[in-house]
Amino acid sequence: MNVDVLLGLQWGDEGKGKVVDYLAEQYDVVARFQGGPNAGHTLILKNGVKFVLHTIPSGIFLNNCMNVVGGGVVIDPVTFKMEVDKLENAGVDVKKRLLISRKAHLILPTHKMLDAASEASKGLDKIGSTLKGIGPAYMDKTGRNGLRIGDIETPNFKEKYDRLKEKHFLFLKNYENVSLEIQNEKEWLDAIEFMKQIPFIDSEYYLNDQIIKNKKILAEGAQGSMLDVDHGTYPFVTSSNTITAGVCTGLGIAPQRIKEVIGISKAYCTRVGGGPFPTELFDQTGEELRKIGSEFGAVTKRPRRCGWIDLPALKYTIMLNGVTQIAITKIDVLNTFKEIKACVAYKIKGKQTDHIPFNIVDAEIEPVYETFKGWNCNLDNCKTKDDLPIELRNFLQFLERELKVKITMLSSGPEREKLILL
Ligand code: GDP
Ligand code: IMO
Ligand code: MG
Repeated sequence: MNVDVLLGLQWGDEGKGKVVDYLAEQYDVVARFQGGPNAGHTLILKNGVKFVLHTIPSGIFLNNCMNVVGGGVVIDPVTFKMEVDKLENAGVDVKKRLLISRKAHLILPTHKMLDAASEASKGLDKIGSTLKGIGPAYMDKTGRNGLRIGDIETPNFKEKYDRLKEKHFLFLKNYENVSLEIQNEKEWLDAIEFMKQIPFIDSEYYLNDQIIKNKKILAEGAQGSMLDVDHGTYPFVTSSNTITAGVCTGLGIAPQRIKEVIGISKAYCTRVGGGPFPTELFDQTGEELRKIGSEFGAVTKRPRRCGWIDLPALKYTIMLNGVTQIAITKIDVLNTFKEIKACVAYKIKGKQTDHIPFNIVDAEIEPVYETFKGWNCNLDNCKTKDDLPIELRNFLQFLERELKVKITMLSSGPEREKLILL
């Protein structure tokens, strides 16, 4: 049991990058198992420099840590190259610490065009996709048409690329007002050549070999469990399995290898893009959460929708993932609030429930709240549980009682050192 998992329990942006960065020292390998450049994981380094990682795992800054982009990931070579360049410019020896699975799928320029055309055709019902080509790339994967990293090594790669591109043109012609001109094809093909500098590996063999050698692996999730393609707020989801099960398929690791499942949740809740969000606040409080929490997307810069923490949703995602410990992030954002609320149940057609309804998209949900007194102080001097104000300790105790899982970490700022072990 050498594999631990870290993933988001809400709709993404829970602060996964920051917590992985903190924990990576304890691991030999950090591996991404799903998602692609729709992810934006923010790390603030010791020197205060901010980095947003999209495809590369958040262990890349540590000398002793190997980083694997697993087979369940979809890769846009252009974004990937930009990320590597930026890291190398900052002095990170990326090529020594990064490995890519041959089974990871490629995002083509035409996948992005299909993403944009599909979203535009949906009008007001659009998903609010990051438009990085994620959905169409995963469609080609499950439709058995996709191109994989390993294909780059085959002599007829360009032929395979042209064939898939032509297929995409056929699809694109079904949409109105869509140009068939590819904007950045040369850049994409150049980036494919660039990719060859990073070792391509059979990552399932590599990772299982590491397990046999007793090395410790951290599987880093992207997005959040409520965006899981099977169990999230479908169709307002991403196109991969963001939950623990995705670690097994995405990395080729057997379930019994998994030990700890660290679930990350903000002390409140955010969502970016369309779709249901029962505790969303449209008032001044929502505005304050956005402002104090700097809730703007790390990928698209869109303002994030904000609301109170949603316990029915957390109970659901804890169940789906087999969460063994929780990290609560962005607790400092609530420092100035007089009152803090937590949604303990949903009222649907007058009936109270803590189950996520199948028709969450259409259901009229009235959140039932419990209110807590705020702590109204700065947490900068809090290093241990005993240093925490009583009001915050009460709030955390309440969360643990409701969620039935221990809160082991409390993040009180974006920087690596602002993490309190409980
Ligand atoms: P991820 O996608 O889950 O890695 O999260 P993002 O990086 O997209 O968004 C989290 C944002 O909150 C980033 O800007 C982080 O720097 C910031 N952040 C992370 N943890 C904390 C925290 O405890 N307090 C505050 N104020 N900001 C945090
Ligand atoms: P990280 O890893 C927050 C959302 C998009 C959209 C939906 C589908 O940083 O937590 P897609 O591009 O996958 O077709 O978009 O999912 N989304 C995210 N929201 N954080 C993310 O990643 C997200 N990745 C996708 O906003 O609503
Ligand atoms: Mg993010």
